[in-house]
Amino acid sequence: MDLSSLKQRFYMLYGNNGESRTFFSPSRVNLIGEHIDYNGGYVLPCATQLGTYGCVQKRDDNKIRLVSENFELKVEVDIEDLKYESEHGWANYPKGVIFFMKKNGYKVSGMDILVWGNIPNGAGLSSSASLELLIAEMINNLFNDGAISKMDLIKISQKSENDFIGVKCGVMDQFAVVMGKANNAMLLDCNSLIYKYVKINIKDYKLVIMNTNKRRELNDSKYNERRDECEKALSILKKHINIDNLCQLTIEEFEKLEKYLDEDNIKNRAGHVVYENQRVLKACTALENGDILELGQLLIESHYSLKNLYGVTGIELDTIVGLALEQDGCIGARMTGAGFGGCAIALVKDEDVGDFIDKVGQMYKSKIGYEADFYLTGIGDGTKEIS
Ligand code: GLA
Repeated sequence: MDLSSLKQRFYMLYGNNGESRTFFSPSRVNLIGEHIDYNGGYVLPCATQLGTYGCVQKRDDNKIRLVSENFELKVEVDIEDLKYESEHGWANYPKGVIFFMKKNGYKVSGMDILVWGNIPNGAGLSSSASLELLIAEMINNLFNDGAISKMDLIKISQKSENDFIGVKCGVMDQFAVVMGKANNAMLLDCNSLIYKYVKINIKDYKLVIMNTNKRRELNDSKYNERRDECEKALSILKKHINIDNLCQLTIEEFEKLEKYLDEDNIKNRAGHVVYENQRVLKACTALENGDILELGQLLIESHYSLKNLYGVTGIELDTIVGLALEQDGCIGARMTGAGFGGCAIALVKDEDVGDFIDKVGQMYKSKIGYEADFYLTGIGDGTKEIS
């Protein structure tokens, strides 16, 4: 759908009071640093050019009307009565953000909203963070003169996902979606929230996003389970060293202390976190130096650590990454996002991309039984108002 059809559809649904505004909010892909954000370390995500578009106009009352071109379900609620309702499906994400904006003392009243997105749903590219920040930025611009800081928009959206939706995600997705910058990744320290932009200088390689089409949404409980395991490791290690999070451990410190983690899975989870955190810094240096081969190698190590130590890959992600790595021109691949399904990324030489997609696609289908999808989207900007 193009923007003018989205606007037409908006006027058809709600009428035109002459004050409608349009926004875009991207999805994100994480290059490396997986399951690190809630452990207080470094991540290296970027915003893509896939995302969620939305039109909005104010109303004179307290009604919120929510319509999506991607789902049948339309929801109408009163702003004084916002609570999670499972039958409200996708609309709980906007409702949660509106609820927490209000709770934090920001101005917001009735509005009519229409959204449409081209982020594959349930693919681990953060369609939920994209939608949350779209709504947060709408409220920022419509009711608060754009004066709410990006950090507040990020924190409110994360809070909504944690406490309204009930997924204990870290800060990476919301951060990447709103802070994204074209052709750049962000090296974010999830503990201090200090960040810097790192140019994506991958020369004659392309970043290919590979969607396993195995949906991950039913696995949010597994995500919360990994968080609990990390907390358990932290509480044991804290008896022996003064740290606030697992990422404060150097590799040497971890190797001295791992003997205190007697349950194998707890030791493995912590091990992944400590090594992955160091890999992010190496990957960032490799990107800055244009050392693509080193970057590719780090992606591969990351994937196998997520498979063997963190236990969040699964047959579909392992198959697609394995097939990718067998192809000419592919120098690195790994799952991205929470795992258990969703997407992986691969670095592939420009001239080999066509063959790469054909071959991985065919072999994946014959092994898994259904198709994978491939996206060659650019690295884009964060959430913003568009004309
Ligand atoms: C999901 C969460 C993020 C992060 C990743 C794993 O995308 O929303 O906060 O934990 O998984 O790196």
